[in-house]
Amino acid sequence: MNQHKRTVLSLTQQKARGEKIAQVTAYDYTTARLVEAAGLEMILVGDSLGMTMMGHSDTLPVTIDDMVHYTRCVTRAIHNTFVVADMPFMTYQQGIKDTLQNAGRLIKEGRAHAVKLEGGKSVASQIQALVEAGIPVQGHIGLTPQAVHAMGGFKVQGKDIEAAKRIIEDAFHVQEAGAFSVVIEGVPSALAQIISEKLDIITIGIGAGNSTDGQVLVVHDLLGLTQDHSPKFAKQFAHLGEEAINAFRAYNSEVKCQTFPKEGEHTFSINSDVIEQLKKEL
Ligand code: KIV
Repeated sequence: MNQHKRTVLSLTQQKARGEKIAQVTAYDYTTARLVEAAGLEMILVGDSLGMTMMGHSDTLPVTIDDMVHYTRCVTRAIHNTFVVADMPFMTYQQGIKDTLQNAGRLIKEGRAHAVKLEGGKSVASQIQALVEAGIPVQGHIGLTPQAVHAMGGFKVQGKDIEAAKRIIEDAFHVQEAGAFSVVIEGVPSALAQIISEKLDIITIGIGAGNSTDGQVLVVHDLLGLTQDHSPKFAKQFAHLGEEAINAFRAYNSEVKCQTFPKEGEHTFSINSDVIEQLKKEL
């Protein structure tokens, strides 16, 4: 287990030392315990849970109640890891009051340490209000999955000069509004490098190359748990999905041929006199 409690300050100092930061999504107690045991610095309770945990085709249906529920499951496991909770679609786009109320729930009820929201210039005033209320914010620019319909799908962003400039502008808006970090998703690595070199805050990449201050991955992609197509940038560090299917098959066949449970190994004994007595009395 790692020994250091991660904070905005410790993460910022880590960036200043040039040490890369690892963030991964988690949505439940058991996974969060494993991530903490492995010593990663940050967990994101991402609204990707709408897809990985709830089976939706995108993140749009996720509610603030869903996020509070899953965030609380994660934070019950956490002593040292810094936990960021995503603000779902339409929980921060409708004004400052709404934004503060919803973020407040993720902190008060979910016990997250920070919140994440998608967008740059368009959400700068929300970021500023959250920071002024004492809530650390991680921004999210580039490919922003909540804007899937506006983007026409989950597509790489910032490939032409105007689009690239807009993303750089968004990055500065997020920083100037007071965010401590920004996720840069689905942009060419050379663009992410320019942004990382220009910003003072912590940049975390996903599908944005190796020049950011750290990386984030969806845990189902990282562990190879998904049976769906996973994105080009998502390396599978294990193939637990295949292992799980094999385990279910083995269990199924042992149940059918009665080799599980095995007498003595997985069973509880009782004095034979008691059984004899029982049989007589029934
Ligand atoms: O919801 C999520 O998991 C995310 C990551 C992909 C950055 O926003």
